[in-house]
Amino acid sequence: MSTVLIVYGSTTGNTAALAEMIGEQLKASGHQVEIQDAAGVSPDNLCVGRDAVLFGCSAWGTDEVELQPDFEPLFDNFERIGAKGCKFACFATGDSNFEYFCGAVDVMEERLNELGGVQMLDGLKVDGDAESSRAEVEEWAQHVAEKL
Ligand SMILES: Cc1cc2nc3c(=O)[nH]c(=O)nc-3n(C[C@H](O)[C@H](O)[C@H](O)COP(=O)(O)O)c2cc1C
Repeated sequence: MSTVLIVYGSTTGNTAALAEMIGEQLKASGHQVEIQDAAGVSPDNLCVGRDAVLFGCSAWGTDEVELQPDFEPLFDNFERIGAKGCKFACFATGDSNFEYFCGAVDVMEERLNELGGVQMLDGLKVDGDAESSRAEVEEWAQHVAEKL
């Protein structure tokens, strides 16, 4: 059994629902899961003592990627989370009509890799709400579970 933290930033609830769905699947695979809203977390040593951390964040820019506002302060302090050597994966819901579809996933992955995090797999990008992509979400979460 591994301990997994899922931390997300979500304005309309889409990425929050996705976080819950991923969490359910990981729990069903026998792992211990904690889910936190980025609005309420401190960046300091967030990754320490966890086997893996999953980061979920929607994007809100038009000409460029803007991270979901609750997640932004956490992202700006990613150097304090203890990412080095930490297994991670990223996810988001988004809208594929935008130029940077789920752009926060790419931004987070780049920064976490820079900081020495260990990316477990390609991020999950869900077009629209999580429920309509349940099979895709469960498959991704299953891959995460296999890499814990
Ligand atoms: C002004 C605005 C900008 C947006 N920019 C993006 C974007 O750059 N990329 C994307 O995939 N979706 C974009 N979206 C869509 C939201 O990210 C999408 O609805 C997402 O599911 C919201 O998730 P949340 O409820 O978890 O915050 C944008 C929506 C609005 C209204």
